[in-house]
Amino acid sequence: MAIKISIGSGKGGVGKTMIMVNLAMQLAETGKKVCLIDLDIGGADAHILFGLFEPRRTLTDFITRKVNNIQDVAHTFYAHHGLQLIAGTGDTLQTSNMNYQEKLRLLRAIDNIDADIVLLDVGAGTSYHALDFFMHSDIQICVTLPDPTSIMDLYNFLQLATIRKMLTSFLSKSDVASILKTTNFGSLAEVFVLAEQTSPGAQDLAQEALKYFHPLLIVNRDSENGRLNKGKLKQMVQKYLGIDIPELCEIPEDPQVQIALKAFLPISELYPDSPSSLAMHNAAVKLAKLVDLFAIHSNSSTA
Ligand SMILES: Nc1ncnc2c1ncn2[C@@H]1O[C@H](COP(=O)(O)OP(=O)(O)OP(=O)(O)O)[C@@H](O)[C@H]1O
Ligand SMILES: [Mg+2]
Repeated sequence: MAIKISIGSGKGGVGKTMIMVNLAMQLAETGKKVCLIDLDIGGADAHILFGLFEPRRTLTDFITRKVNNIQDVAHTFYAHHGLQLIAGTGDTLQTSNMNYQEKLRLLRAIDNIDADIVLLDVGAGTSYHALDFFMHSDIQICVTLPDPTSIMDLYNFLQLATIRKMLTSFLSKSDVASILKTTNFGSLAEVFVLAEQTSPGAQDLAQEALKYFHPLLIVNRDSENGRLNKGKLKQMVQKYLGIDIPELCEIPEDPQVQIALKAFLPISELYPDSPSSLAMHNAAVKLAKLVDLFAIHSNSSTA
């Protein structure tokens, strides 16, 4: 089974797609079989970064059951180390209102993609779709710009992602899930207390669900001032959500990103030595190592 990596953010326009396209390419360059899926329902645009303006096949064809096998809608970029892209869908009523069964079918199909690494570019924000796609991965990456509003939006996103993760672990205890859904919490400790009061043993279940949740942080378009805000974010997340967000990389503001965008080429291909390409290259090297560790772990647990 492929190792899945998702990327999410609180605020839109922070660079998720730019980062995912470049990471996908750099991971494919290491010889791994990589498939990038654009799950930004309504705002899908990863294909445009490859100069593919009107993809003949998109995720919509799979969601609307025109196609049964999700891999039949993938495009293979032979010029980009065989990287596969499942282009996203326009916002149709059917796709944005995907019901639970349809979402399960999509998530199962993603799980069965024949690849070493599946990358999920998730739309910004805290809709249930966005949170569920973000959490449906082995490794999560969260992105923010260095400014305080973007940082607060990311904190909010992580808080809701954490609660959503816990809710899914409570599905069998629906009394806990329904109470948590309708309550506002200041910290995760409060969630644990209420869960335990509602159903003894629920706290252990919740803690177990969060044990492996350590989203990797990317600060994009970085500046000197950003350092302070990033430190505060890490502290808040640790104190109130009880999770670590180890840093994957900082990507500097880089004017060549726009030039690459206009050339419809990933920047790491057009300007491999630009500051942002080098930062993303280092991130891809770290991710490749993590993927190998996950693969060893999942092979040994299925053996
Ligand atoms: N490091 C950077 N330096 C300069 N420009 C950047 C950098 N990172 C991203 N950008 C620019 O920011 C804009 C938004 O990037 P992108 O579309 O990747 O964000 P996004 O998070 O995927 O947005 P959305 O939430 O709408 O999907 C693009 O014009 C992109 O070229
Ligand atoms: Mg995007």
